[in-house]
Amino acid sequence: MQPIGGEQMSQVWEGRRVAVIAGCRTPFARSGTLFRDLTSIELGTFAVRELLQRAELPAAEIDEIIYGTVISSPLAPNISREVGLSAGIPPTAAAYSVSRACASSNQAITSAADTIARGYADTIIAGGAESLTDIPILFSRRLRNRLVAASRAKTPLAKLKAFAGLRLRELAPVTPAIAEPSTGETMGESAERMAKENGIAREAQDAWALRSHRRAAEGTEDGRLRQEIATIFIPPDYETVADRDNGIRTDTSMEKLAALPPVFDRKDGSVTAGNSSPLTDGAAAVLLMSEEKAKALGYEPLGYIRSYAYAALDPADQLLQGPAFAAPIALDRAGITMQDIELWEIHEAFAAQVLSNFQWLDSDSFARERLGRPQKIGLIDEERINVMGGSIALGHPFGATGARLTTTLLNEMRRRDLGLGLVTVCAAGAMGFAMILERDG
Ligand SMILES: CC(C)(COP(=O)(O)OP(=O)(O)OC[C@H]1O[C@@H](n2cnc3c(N)ncnc32)[C@H](O)[C@@H]1OP(=O)(O)O)[C@@H](O)C(=O)NCCC(=O)NCCS
Repeated sequence: MQPIGGEQMSQVWEGRRVAVIAGCRTPFARSGTLFRDLTSIELGTFAVRELLQRAELPAAEIDEIIYGTVISSPLAPNISREVGLSAGIPPTAAAYSVSRACASSNQAITSAADTIARGYADTIIAGGAESLTDIPILFSRRLRNRLVAASRAKTPLAKLKAFAGLRLRELAPVTPAIAEPSTGETMGESAERMAKENGIAREAQDAWALRSHRRAAEGTEDGRLRQEIATIFIPPDYETVADRDNGIRTDTSMEKLAALPPVFDRKDGSVTAGNSSPLTDGAAAVLLMSEEKAKALGYEPLGYIRSYAYAALDPADQLLQGPAFAAPIALDRAGITMQDIELWEIHEAFAAQVLSNFQWLDSDSFARERLGRPQKIGLIDEERINVMGGSIALGHPFGATGARLTTTLLNEMRRRDLGLGLVTVCAAGAMGFAMILERDG
């Protein structure tokens, strides 16, 4: 295995400084519940409209919108363009969509930041949306071939002939799986394998999940999480109001979590519905500007992007360990160490993944053997990690989570008056993301 390092590590931020002005999101709703009749475009539109209102920014100021999604609609593959147009952003503002699995809105943010840093744009909205309820369901390849042949046929008889010998099983729908195309392994199976290989006990996973729910409940009750959430009157009747995440279980406990059966290895497994992030619908967006533009418009930015890094490993290896590879690079690029980090938002795909990321980051042998470094990266005090819970409790609309983490972190850094924060995300394809955000003292 090649150690990550060398040239990548010496790079520093180049170009103009990029400010995060504001961020907001829809509530996150368990799939098939509150947002079951909304598309990801509609969800994204709610987030972007609210962002513009909160920032009190005329839409004409937006140079570009970059949006991420994972399961895109074949009917509107450039979600960014559709969200921008329906949110009232002028049609003259360009729009493109990105997909980097669960780090898609992180990709949107870093693509926006790079564009601003180079001076190609001053003001960009970046974010992402996901509906895991409104997913495209396909037909089998054989049936699709028949349908294409029928559509090309010139006579009714030729059309009919395209379906000759049709078998019942060809009619079976094909739904997208959360599985690696290269290995066939699902995310949950990967998390299960990581739990076993790293010796992450069921109890430790459940304890992390409980912590996630407790903190998310506190953050909701005291208003910190609701501050970043746009209240939505849900169409078509606009009678149901969503103003908070609906996956937070205030009544869960270690006993209840311990009683849940393992899902991905029913016999010897430890990963359950309780210690996994649930399938979720939602959207999020952040407003990015060059520092100069922000000053000219009189904004006091939430913070600035200091550095970021993506890294990847072999999907057949520990699929969700990307953050353990990306964080050291982002820290180096920022010229700081893990010990300088005052607050950390880590995406919780699974408790087994979070605890595995911690284990590798805190391991000298991992640092030596996999990163080619003499010493471990280390961790910070757990009290400064996911202080309002994480994706296990709040939910995880794939394309939106990265923008949610960025907003949550910066809002809390402002409340606590902190200077340096870290966002990390693991993503399908065995990729990892890390970003250092800073506030001026
Ligand atoms: C794990 C997973 C398969 C569970 O799906 P599910 O079975 O539909 O989950 P549910 O929410 O219905 O939970 C199953 C049961 O556990 C219970 N449960 C879940 N979390 C609980 C908790 N914290 N406390 C108590 N009970 C809990 C539910 O109430 C439900 O009970 P019921 O069957 O009596 O209604 C699904 O959430 C999943 O695939 N998650 C991973 C998604 C993923 O891979 N994401 C990518 C990561 S980057």
